[in-house]
Amino acid sequence: MGSKQSKYPKLIKKINKASNDIRQNDECPQLAKQDDQYIDRMQLFHHVIRCVSNGNFKVPLNEQLKEGGVVVLDFCCGTGTWLSEMASDFPNSTFVGIEKDSMYPEHKPKNVKIVQANVLEKFPFQDDTFDFVYSRLNFLSFSESQWKNHLIKELIRVLKPGGYLECIDHLGTDNKGPILEKFSFAIEKVLIQAGRSPSLASKFSDVIEFEPQMGKVTLTEVIVPIGSWGGELGLHIKTHMMSGLNKGIMHHLKISEKNLEKLWDDFKIEVNTHRTIWKINRYISQKN
Ligand SMILES: C[S@@+](CC[C@H](N)C(=O)[O-])C[C@H]1O[C@@H](n2cnc3c(N)ncnc32)[C@H](O)[C@@H]1O
Repeated sequence: MGSKQSKYPKLIKKINKASNDIRQNDECPQLAKQDDQYIDRMQLFHHVIRCVSNGNFKVPLNEQLKEGGVVVLDFCCGTGTWLSEMASDFPNSTFVGIEKDSMYPEHKPKNVKIVQANVLEKFPFQDDTFDFVYSRLNFLSFSESQWKNHLIKELIRVLKPGGYLECIDHLGTDNKGPILEKFSFAIEKVLIQAGRSPSLASKFSDVIEFEPQMGKVTLTEVIVPIGSWGGELGLHIKTHMMSGLNKGIMHHLKISEKNLEKLWDDFKIEVNTHRTIWKINRYISQKN
């Protein structure tokens, strides 16, 4: 858990520099830092979500994407892995990412463009620009009021009439044992302290449908096993899932690093006994 040499020193330096330029006032020191583990975790989540979803998206645009001319926005694209895969699968369409940190690779498919910007300001795109707007695992990066009063409105503004919005995000965990109950309690405290809403995913359909330009939301729940009972996939998730939140867990449970390590060891057994799951929600809606 101590500070190790970075696997991606150049990348981390770049991220830290960019982050300093766009730092949110309400940033909480106990939230996950953008370090090696963070990048590995984002990569892992990408592969897990694609695997359990049987693909990179669910909006009904497969044929149009293949034909070409479709313009797609990946909101807060992070490492850009989703964008690069989509761009390679659909070389005749255009893929744009917006992100505050430069954590995407220098070499990317030529139909990918990354715009470095703070999404808490007006997005640097014209109205009705995109056919498809995608957002993954971004709910907990912003407060509920930032989502309701700014982000959802901007996502809709830049979407063309008839275009699709797909959001996929963390809902919570189920079949919890006592250790995960404790961890969840601490993580909830960290999020609330940072001004985030842990329950946003349970009401996001309402947030979208509140906007008169958007149609009814199709909501699907995706389930990911945590632990070796779920095979290779569950095994990976178990190791990485909450590893960025150790500081917050120690603080709110008032435990030492040594005790936390012991809890993590027991957690690895507990998730198998309880057959713990990670729940993810997918929301799809079309702009009128
Ligand atoms: C949890 S990550 C998800 C990344 C990506 N969507 C994925 O699924 O891999 C959240 C992302 O939001 C970005 N972000 C947070 N605040 C931002 C802001 N104000 N402006 C632009 N990007 C921001 C972070 O840098 C990070 O890449």
